[in-house]
Amino acid sequence: MLFEKLIRPALYRLSSDDAEAVHERTIRVLSAAAPALGVLRRRYGVDDPVTVFGLRFPNRVGLAAGMDKDGRALGAWPSLGFGFVEVGTVTRLAQPGNPKPRLFALPTSDAVINRMGFNNAGADALARKLATEKAHSKPVVVGVSIGKSKVVPLEDAVADYQASLRSLYPYADYFAINVSSPNTPGLRSLQDKSQLAELLDELNGTAASLAGGGTPTPLLVKVAPDLSDTALAEVLEVCDTHGVAGLIATNTTLSREGLAPGDAPTGEEAGGLSGRPLAARAREVVRFVHERTEGKLPIIGVGGIFSGTDARRMLDAGASLVQVYTGFALKGPGLIREINRALAGRRIMGSSGASR
Ligand code: FNR
Repeated sequence: MLFEKLIRPALYRLSSDDAEAVHERTIRVLSAAAPALGVLRRRYGVDDPVTVFGLRFPNRVGLAAGMDKDGRALGAWPSLGFGFVEVGTVTRLAQPGNPKPRLFALPTSDAVINRMGFNNAGADALARKLATEKAHSKPVVVGVSIGKSKVVPLEDAVADYQASLRSLYPYADYFAINVSSPNTPGLRSLQDKSQLAELLDELNGTAASLAGGGTPTPLLVKVAPDLSDTALAEVLEVCDTHGVAGLIATNTTLSREGLAPGDAPTGEEAGGLSGRPLAARAREVVRFVHERTEGKLPIIGVGGIFSGTDARRMLDAGASLVQVYTGFALKGPGLIREINRALAGRRIMGSSGASR
């Protein structure tokens, strides 16, 4: 089996010094092998279609943003069982990201710390890539995550996001507005009420004009797990008044709670923590959002999903869809199959904007 024999051993070397080189190699292998990976679909693919915020997803399990930032391995993900892929985060300007090392494995804790800093080839490059993929029939639901270019000052953020939205508009099934990465200075302040309202106002306007009278592409907001209840309630208020299609909860955390003692030294690295220690807080945020919005705002639950049971608990907390990053990196596509099987046929409690 390709993954067990070749990819997983490489991924498990995440505990070695150069976790990023392993990631890069994996994306390269998946990209090159994508045309041949269709055979894996029989092994990993699960059809469990669901409609959420007006989009029909082949199943509820997505690849979280950051794994395939530039859409290089787009053709591979459906073969590994994913029902949707969130590419990005991309920025209007191509940028190198933070100096290496910037990705750290915490193997005893099933966790990762990253401070990548939106290394990406830029919105136009992703648009060109997605245009090519689309010409070969788009294989999967594609969300596009957009963020702020590092060199652009915060006060010019709106125009920067707008430019990315414009460039990528023809190719995205939904957009994730990333205002929650901890690795771009000041970015998280865009979650503040007035700044978020201005950003969403302008992005809504741009999306409406690009839709030319049709239904605009759904805009979702991705939030940090480190917001207080009050701040989160304000985000929800702004999302409600600005017709946001859904929330993605959550991004990585600045907290270092829940790390195994053996990982304590690496735990001091700056950046966002993902993986198992994030699970309880991500679920708590999902539950808060679900209750506060009375189930009316669809939620993509992400953070620390390592099993079918974890994913079920995310849905129980109110999510309609889930995404996985760290769990997939460590456990491979078998996890995606396990999650899909655990969720298949399961009815969503409450409305959550989801229907079969
Ligand atoms: C991420 N994540 C992320 N999120 C995002 O919105 N844009 C991004 O560019 C990235 N980049 C990124 C890089 C790396 C190396 C990691 C580990 C994570 C966050 C990711 O999408 C997800 O929200 C969290 O990782 C929590 O999920 P898991 O990893 O616990 O399943």
